[in-house]
Amino acid sequence: MSTKKVTKAVFPVAGMGTRFLPATKSVPKEILSLVDRPLIQYAIDEARAAGIEEFIFVTSRGKSALEDYFDVSPTLEASLKASGKDELLQILGTTNMDDGRIAYVRQHRALGLGHAVWCARRLIGDEPFAVMLPDDVIAADKPCLQQMVEAYEETGGNVVAAMEVPTERTKSYGILDVAEDMGDMVRVKAMVEKPKSNPPSNLAVIGRYILTPEVLNTLDRQETGAGGEIQLTDAIAREIETSNNVYGFRFKGQRYDCGSKAGFLQATVAFGLARDDLRDEFSHFLTDVVAAQKLAQ
Ligand code: G1P
Repeated sequence: MSTKKVTKAVFPVAGMGTRFLPATKSVPKEILSLVDRPLIQYAIDEARAAGIEEFIFVTSRGKSALEDYFDVSPTLEASLKASGKDELLQILGTTNMDDGRIAYVRQHRALGLGHAVWCARRLIGDEPFAVMLPDDVIAADKPCLQQMVEAYEETGGNVVAAMEVPTERTKSYGILDVAEDMGDMVRVKAMVEKPKSNPPSNLAVIGRYILTPEVLNTLDRQETGAGGEIQLTDAIAREIETSNNVYGFRFKGQRYDCGSKAGFLQATVAFGLARDDLRDEFSHFLTDVVAAQKLAQ
């Protein structure tokens, strides 16, 4: 299928991160780090791997540390160069963006995820685009967004990342109503944002989307949904009615909910153990901690 290439990604980062207070009092939650990389860096690296060339941040008051993070730091670079710390210089390079490839737009009022994406409409224009929620960190051999771009190239429709969750967790997610299950892909016949009861399935939307620009037209209407917010889920669901081209994609990989403390800790352990420079020491430590805890019980 011939589709327009996906080159733009929207990162909704306007949330206040209250679940992590006081840590997030003066630091955006997207700067909180798993081992030594901020959550936002994981999202950017995944986007780059998927061929994204333009990065659109939807921010809010108190998020300027994010802009500084992606800026060059001449003093730091000069000092690392002078002391021959080439490896660190290289790592620092991953935080730099090509000129004009990163843009920030403010969401002035916290009206929901759909509204946040709508705030970026002029920067998105009339092309397909990705949305990435940095709270959802996904460890995968092939980066999740890259898997989704491939799925999008096959279908040409809207593609949302999907994962089975236990029934009692369905009320925390957008949930898919499945018309046809094709294995990795499902054709979606409806979507419900955070169903309080009777979820249509256990297949939950995870924070990676590839969307067609028509979704923005629906968001223009500013209709509110669950929790009184303008929901992205509802705008995507409307595409089912108008063009029947919404797919859920069961990505391959492990997702960590870094919007919750437990998920953040789990990701920290997993990413720590995945690091060659930390694995031995860290796994010994974990073994000892678990053994000591068992003894104490
Ligand atoms: C958002 C979406 C929801 C999705 C979830 C994935 O909810 O609205 O549909 O399932 O992200 O993490 P939030 O967790 O921001 O409330």
